[in-house]
Amino acid sequence: MSENLSIDTLFSLKGCSALVTGGSSGIGLMMVEGLLRNGVQVYMVSRSAERCEAALRALEGLGECAAIAADVTDPAARARIVARIEADLPQGLDILVNNAGSNWGAKLADYPDSAFDKLMKTNVSSVFSLTRDLHKSLQSSAKHNGSARVINIGSMDGLQVPIVQGVPTFAYSASKAALHHLTRTLAVELGPEGITVNAIAPGFFESKMTKHVMSEYRQNIEDGCPLGRIGNEQDIVGTLLFLCSRAGTYVNGVVLPVDGGTRLSKGRPSWLGE
Ligand SMILES: NC(=O)c1ccc[n+]([C@@H]2O[C@H](COP(=O)([O-])OP(=O)(O)OC[C@H]3O[C@@H](n4cnc5c(N)ncnc54)[C@H](OP(=O)(O)O)[C@@H]3O)[C@@H](O)[C@H]2O)c1
Repeated sequence: MSENLSIDTLFSLKGCSALVTGGSSGIGLMMVEGLLRNGVQVYMVSRSAERCEAALRALEGLGECAAIAADVTDPAARARIVARIEADLPQGLDILVNNAGSNWGAKLADYPDSAFDKLMKTNVSSVFSLTRDLHKSLQSSAKHNGSARVINIGSMDGLQVPIVQGVPTFAYSASKAALHHLTRTLAVELGPEGITVNAIAPGFFESKMTKHVMSEYRQNIEDGCPLGRIGNEQDIVGTLLFLCSRAGTYVNGVVLPVDGGTRLSKGRPSWLGE
């Protein structure tokens, strides 16, 4: 018998600290809000100072939140992020959410090499670099609290070939598949230190990135999901909180799809009706 099985013991994140890259919009902003509403001190990172300011205004009153305007692909900007975190959090960073990402769609003949370079840099190598650069801080948190977390935001498109968006996204799906495997590699590397590394692979959620695709193909997207809908903030925040909490301590190196089952089927079987 154990007295440590209450919701509070298993899921509370009160007093933790987190850094969320790409926290100023879309899925990142949903996660920042979710963490703040659960007592986590949050640092959000995005390139645009204006978007950071707008997000901070929207989140005002929800908790302790700061923004760092920085490009995660730029080593000097990453050094600024790390310096700020190490100065502000001497006990270490508890949760790193590598969420910043970008996409590119074009027909095969028109798909530029530069898109590949940009997406691999933003979606994969900067995740590696920032995790490496914040390793000391995560180690410190794991030493003080027994564990720390790295959560990478992958994509359903790294698990299956995306087809609904009307144009191929070669570099995006390749980069997300690479990120999923980087997650597994880092999980093996950092697990012995008490730092777990997992990925969330979202299906469709409303965001800046999906604005166009939602306006053109929303019906297809919903029809392609066995649950008949896109994801919402509860779906993504609930998964994040689980992975970051005590309840998620023994989950390491997984890629967890949060897509309503979209990756498994082409929609609801016709014999089930409307
Ligand atoms: N929405 C979906 O349906 C969906 C599905 C699967 C996976 N995802 C993944 O979820 C993550 C968030 O995407 P989203 O859909 O929420 O898109 P979004 O609204 O466009 O958000 C992307 C965020 O990343 C920031 N960002 C982009 N490049 C950056 C860089 N180099 N350095 C720092 N920040 C950067 C952006 O801010 P700035 O422009 O100010 O830098 C923005 O805050 C991405 O990794 C995406 O691949 C999204």
